[in-house]
Amino acid sequence: MTDTTTVAIVGAGVIGLAVAWRAAAAGYQVTVFDPRPVRGGASWVAGGMLAPVTEAWPGEEDVLELGEQSLRRWPSFAADLAAEGMDPGLSTAGTVVAAFDSADAGQLDILAGYLHRLGRQASPVSGRQLRKTEPGLAGAVRSGLLVPGDLAVDNRALLRALHAAARRRGARFVAERVRGLDHRTVRTETAEHRFRAVVLAAGAWSARLHPELAGLLRPLKGEILRLRARRTTLPPPSGTIRALVEGRPIYLVPRAGGELVLGATQYEAGFDETVTASGVRELLEGAERVFPSVAEYELTEAKAGLRAGSADNLPYLGVLGDGVFAATGHHRNGLLLAPVTADAALAWLAGAPTPPGVSRAHPGRMRSEERV
Ligand code: GLY
Repeated sequence: MTDTTTVAIVGAGVIGLAVAWRAAAAGYQVTVFDPRPVRGGASWVAGGMLAPVTEAWPGEEDVLELGEQSLRRWPSFAADLAAEGMDPGLSTAGTVVAAFDSADAGQLDILAGYLHRLGRQASPVSGRQLRKTEPGLAGAVRSGLLVPGDLAVDNRALLRALHAAARRRGARFVAERVRGLDHRTVRTETAEHRFRAVVLAAGAWSARLHPELAGLLRPLKGEILRLRARRTTLPPPSGTIRALVEGRPIYLVPRAGGELVLGATQYEAGFDETVTASGVRELLEGAERVFPSVAEYELTEAKAGLRAGSADNLPYLGVLGDGVFAATGHHRNGLLLAPVTADAALAWLAGAPTPPGVSRAHPGRMRSEERV
């Protein structure tokens, strides 16, 4: 394709914006469709963890490897974005995982053994050693893992930076809902637009827009809280704290200026984005047990988002039958996978080979498998 190719991107969350920025910077004429760009989707709600190792799960080695591929791209992705004028707030402070009771410690031992067999860097430590890294952790925390390679980014700074950079590079934003895709024609409520290439990055809504994705995506609701340390409280942790509290996973991700993101619930509730009282209670109870000072923090926000869950937790990255490129199904890893996804979409636009690990995420893998 030539450098004047017109490209439509459906969705202006982290994936759509990352593709828009990279494509516009590469000289493509980019139009992004989203009725609520930047703030409307799951990436605005995210914790911001870039954490392939602490998200790892036995049997999901492809997800781990793709995540690591993308994590390696993150420092230059962030530096390139900062050079466009806005710093996305990449934090290299690392991650600790805390086990609250002895059953949680047993679960963490299983994860540590699995990561060790795969040769990943995750060091088991006692509760006391863990508190040397994060002094605000409760005395009851039994044991933990140090995972210095799992990073974090300020999701909202990132989204604003991507949006600004894409616009600066000439991407056009149309604040309309896409009603349908017909080959490379994008239909909104008011018009039809024809493009040479279309990238579908509408998260959990993507399945409604393309028949080949029907039944392959399910919304997975996640609630988060935002809190702020006060003058009289301990500051937030220096890096990400993940914890298992009586079997329930939570995470606390610090932001600049004393802010803390506390997440996240995960359950299926269709397209419902209501924050429930039980979700808030679950998060606060868990957080208070491992990091007691949060009880004194100011509660500034409660919000829910919808992860785009795929059938096997790998995203769908690749061209569909009618020439639309799918960039969706990122499940819990949208922010982490943004750089590799953008590179995959750009490779497709240029007719270049896909980055390593991406071909395994081709949506065609599901054709003969069970649908979700
Ligand atoms: N990436 C963490 C979450 O989806 O809650």
